[in-house]
Amino acid sequence: MPTAEPPPDGARRLSAFAQRLLALPPPAPTRSVRVADFRYGDLSGADFPVLAWRRAVNRVCLRRPARLRYDDPRGSESLRDALHGYLWRARGIRCTPERIIIVNGSQQGVDLCARLLLDPGDRFLFENPGYALARHAFAAVGGVEIPVAVDAEGLRTDGLRGEALAAAALAYVTPSHQFPLGGVLSAARRRALLDWAARGGGVVVEDDYDGEYRHGVAPIPPLQTLAPESVIYVGTLSKTLSPTLRLGYLVVPPGLERPFAEAKRLTDRHAPLLEQEAVADLMISGAYDRHVRSVRRRNAERRAALLAALATELGDSALVAGTEAGLHVVLWLPGIPADQEAALVAEGQAAGIGLYPVSPLYAPGGERPACAGLVMGYAALDAETVRRGVAVLAGLVVARNRSSD
Ligand SMILES: Cc1ncc(COP(=O)(O)O)c(C=O)c1O
Repeated sequence: MPTAEPPPDGARRLSAFAQRLLALPPPAPTRSVRVADFRYGDLSGADFPVLAWRRAVNRVCLRRPARLRYDDPRGSESLRDALHGYLWRARGIRCTPERIIIVNGSQQGVDLCARLLLDPGDRFLFENPGYALARHAFAAVGGVEIPVAVDAEGLRTDGLRGEALAAAALAYVTPSHQFPLGGVLSAARRRALLDWAARGGGVVVEDDYDGEYRHGVAPIPPLQTLAPESVIYVGTLSKTLSPTLRLGYLVVPPGLERPFAEAKRLTDRHAPLLEQEAVADLMISGAYDRHVRSVRRRNAERRAALLAALATELGDSALVAGTEAGLHVVLWLPGIPADQEAALVAEGQAAGIGLYPVSPLYAPGGERPACAGLVMGYAALDAETVRRGVAVLAGLVVARNRSSD
């Protein structure tokens, strides 16, 4: 019997969604490095609370339900209850467990927001520079980006009264620690953004991805606490436990529980239950709060090692931004033109260090950086590796500064 020939590459009909996906820029490749990898988003394997996790998983397994049955699409009741308490204690968020939706990483939460709140052609406000995977989720559903510049106080809200911006359906922001530049949204700008939402009915998606890490400054209450009816709060366990767990959560405004629950059901029924119950167990026993305190300390040490090494090795030839919160900093290199960033990254690779440029986080057609910049994550590195990596980087920067003179 003749077998059907597969259609040649490119001949298969794909949806408009697929076409938009394929038009997005591909992610940076993962390469192994010899000396130090400053990839942002990685955590140290040594920080994972193995014993507490094993005890929690054992306890959950021993409970042995009589039936293995699909759960609530919003996630396990015990985790939503535990998070309800944690979010109040840690972030001052008041909500009911019914408004918490457990998702497979905050990325899924952002993707659900995109699919539930935007139609093709709808405009969305997005920080420039900003978090590429969130930008891509909104663009993939056909959203049209309106890049909004950021500075040391986060999103610049001065233009929000303009017509194009007023008509946007959604704004995505990282107010506690702007990604990647690190500004904290000032009180006046918080008010301006929430006024924008109240005027036009737009929704604010607040990505509080690293709210657990503040270095020597008081924690800022999330926007959600000021306007729970306009803000979708997005949180993650990727910065405290592990990005490989794929667990995050949304707190949605009253009335949005049902669309989010039904979208989650169609996507994957619900997040894996065993892991959710294990995290709930950690939260209820107090082990999670203890763990957060411990990783906060360890990451503060790593940060101190990075800042000290950058000051010693690079001195005035670099500016370090966004040091007050989170698990990364941005290193600006005023002596190196922005168009030399890719060459610097390639030289880093050859010299054994993983470097990540800031330019790809800028919107095409929006404001561009004035010089080369690097996003430097440190949460996976020990102090000695940080020092060795920065020494290699300094050698490359000095050589490039000389050649640009
Ligand atoms: C701005 C931002 N949001 C969210 C996340 C976490 O994403 P997820 O919860 O999907 O792992 C990251 C991780 O690097 C991030 O940089």
